[in-house]
Amino acid sequence: MIVAQVIQQQLEHSSWIRRMFEEGLRMKAERGVENVFDFTLGNPDEDPPAEVLAALKRQVAANPAGSHGYMPNAGFPKVREVLAERLRRHTGVDFQARHLLMTVGSSGAINTALKAILDPGDEVIVPMPCFSEYQFYIANHSGKMVPVETAADFSLDLDAIRAAITPRTRAIILNSPHNPTGVIYSEATLRELEALLQGLDHTVVVISDEPYRAFVYDCAVMPETAAIITNCIVAHSYSKAWAVAGERIGYLAISPRLAGADELMHACTFTNRILGFINAPAIWQWVAAASGEAMPNLAMYQEKRDLLCEGLSNAGYEVSKPQGAFYLFMKTPIPDDIAFVRLLTSEGVLTVPGAGFGRGGYIRLSLTVPRDTIVRSMPGFARALKKCPK
Ligand SMILES: Cc1ncc(COP(=O)(O)O)c(C=O)c1O
Repeated sequence: MIVAQVIQQQLEHSSWIRRMFEEGLRMKAERGVENVFDFTLGNPDEDPPAEVLAALKRQVAANPAGSHGYMPNAGFPKVREVLAERLRRHTGVDFQARHLLMTVGSSGAINTALKAILDPGDEVIVPMPCFSEYQFYIANHSGKMVPVETAADFSLDLDAIRAAITPRTRAIILNSPHNPTGVIYSEATLRELEALLQGLDHTVVVISDEPYRAFVYDCAVMPETAAIITNCIVAHSYSKAWAVAGERIGYLAISPRLAGADELMHACTFTNRILGFINAPAIWQWVAAASGEAMPNLAMYQEKRDLLCEGLSNAGYEVSKPQGAFYLFMKTPIPDDIAFVRLLTSEGVLTVPGAGFGRGGYIRLSLTVPRDTIVRSMPGFARALKKCPK
């Protein structure tokens, strides 16, 4: 077999999301697109915001000299200046251009950071459930993922985190608003975590994975992790907020409050290069700088969230509304989430089992579907519930 054993094993455990997505393509070909309700993939289905598309057109039309070649591996200095100013304004932390590195999305940022900080066997704490790719990102750099369970409402269990920290712990990956649960970590929780980390006798960094930071509902305000956690690395992405996941643009920001921030940035510029990213896509760096604070259509997402939650609750499901991101993580009416996903699939409704995120007994539904899909899927959800053994 030409494929490495490690990769063969990882493939076996790899993404339920992709598996269900592919199942969806097969079913759509078989039953017709209109008869399949696909809630699997977190891929925004609307156009990017108008100001983003306008900035892209301006950039391509202007075609400034040197805009397609290599640039400093960290990205165009002018772009990083603009984005650092924005981050300064949001966090109150003194981010400068030299603290930002343009990346291939948030996944590029996380891999770049992990490569720079992990020696073989070093540990990374991940609150569970979690985005399923983290385990592979950590393994990419010979690290060891240490899963830590969260409380019943998916908030951080700080005692469990404290108990999981060892001299080998190098990082904790936080993701707020959270995929798959939609939870936003409170300011009080982040402050408690900061106190815990400051009490340690070695540095544990928080990698704050923030691709959903624009998706906050009910006019809530999301606490800025970098404003609270001293040893913070932000992994930012435009994939979700601007519906540009295919363009691969984001950035990594190292807090200037982290001791050794400049040294770490030097290392990350190198790791971004040797991982083969070299630099983030050039045109999209300029678009990111020129598009200001472009936002997704939050009212539309919130309306879909409410419609889905109300419909499922009326059908008899146990539902609690996500505070942010664009997923509903819902308890399954039977303990076996994979069996329940199969039941739903037989009704033409595609979802992802909680097992794919390390938490059985739940399914994840993405709100990145047309409103009409939500409405027309409801009879299928109701029939699946009726088929469940009591
Ligand atoms: C929690 C989380 N982190 C990172 C990513 C990767 O995003 P990007 O497209 O920015 O690499 C995703 C994508 O779904 C995600 O859900």
